[in-house]
Amino acid sequence: MNLLITGGAGFIGSHVVRLFVESYPHYHVFNLDKLTYAGNLQNLADVEGRENYTFLKGDITDAAYLESIFSEHRFGAVLHLAAESHVDRSIAGPMAFVQTNVIGTVNLLEACRRAWAGDFEGKLFYHVSTDEVYGSLGEEGLFTESTAYDPRSPYSASKAASDHFVRAWFHTYGLPVKLSNCSNNYGPNHFPEKLIPLAIHNIKEGRPVPVYGKGENVRDWLYVKDHARAIDAIFHRGRVGETYNVGGVNEWRNIDLIELLCDVMDERLGREQGASRKLITFVKDRAGHDARYAIDSSKLMSELGWAPSVTFEQGLRKTVDWYLENEQWLEEVTSGHYRDYYREQYEHR
Ligand code: NAD
Ligand code: DAU
Repeated sequence: MNLLITGGAGFIGSHVVRLFVESYPHYHVFNLDKLTYAGNLQNLADVEGRENYTFLKGDITDAAYLESIFSEHRFGAVLHLAAESHVDRSIAGPMAFVQTNVIGTVNLLEACRRAWAGDFEGKLFYHVSTDEVYGSLGEEGLFTESTAYDPRSPYSASKAASDHFVRAWFHTYGLPVKLSNCSNNYGPNHFPEKLIPLAIHNIKEGRPVPVYGKGENVRDWLYVKDHARAIDAIFHRGRVGETYNVGGVNEWRNIDLIELLCDVMDERLGREQGASRKLITFVKDRAGHDARYAIDSSKLMSELGWAPSVTFEQGLRKTVDWYLENEQWLEEVTSGHYRDYYREQYEHR
């Protein structure tokens, strides 16, 4: 089968591409990616020469391009991860999120509908989404698959819209779809605009670690390779037309997480315990900052037997070690445009 994975040069996509290329030699994996600032082929350097892997540089907002690759490669399934993914960037410039996350997703749905022309037997469109579509929780409760959508940032609104379109194509045209909504991922290859890799980078450099507001917002963190394993399970064994929530059962207040990270970094860098905590700097809060996300993954666990394979402490140590061992990767992605982004995002906070 020819499998189209979109956004495979990004953080989660690169782990998913590697898992599918290595585990399913009878699939040919086509990785379609625009290579925005977040896409990096270095993430897949070890996969590049594999016989069952091809990279396609392209943009999902370009419907004519999608039509041409669908007709050339006759994809049997699509695993859709390409997106603009950073909430702060969506606040600064929402239109790119509407273009890629909404229009790009609809283009892909249409490309599938046309290419598969009503013969949907054995075909699949799998849409990877986020828990942010459910909005913001108070101190109690968990997001389930039936929680009403309540997106509050331009990013989450664009992902919510894309989820609605995917379900509309299932109900209206019978397109075989699956969806998953996952909590915050962390791990190797995470772009250092997101909290954990940004903090690792700044601690390493001895620079202030910006914590929004009072650091009391809560996120549910999942190691990226466990998310990739969940996607594999849902892709192969999940039920068509269904949605699966994916989470780490691992809630942390931002400030507690950053303190733990500082301590791990002190240990790994041979600094005196407590030294890196002095870098923590409280800065102006994110606009519309969601208070708490927490996922109920019991459907995925009971139906498909999935469970996270590493604890947060193990995953965080693996992540820190990866960044310390891959200094060149970090240097390359934090040069050039990253510096302009960083200045604009943090200078006046
Ligand atoms: P990322 O920003 O690291 O990667 C996105 C990838 O998509 C990049 O390689 C980029 O070049 C590509 N891309 C962007 N616009 C494109 C376009 N128009 N055409 C083709 N390619 C394009 O994102 P990520 O964190 O790996 O997230 C992947 C997916 O998982 C997204 O759909 C995101 O909403 C979802 N998700 C992310 C998280 C998380 O914690 N990071 C959690 C749940 C769900
Ligand atoms: O929940 C899933 C979502 O998790 C994904 O859909 C998104 O693609 C992904 O970016 C992530 O969104 P968040 O906004 O939760 O992640 P981020 O790493 O940007 O922020 C995590 C928390 O840390 C959040 O409460 C904001 C806070 N924060 C973030 C940054 C970048 C800070 O305090 N300081 C910072 O500098």
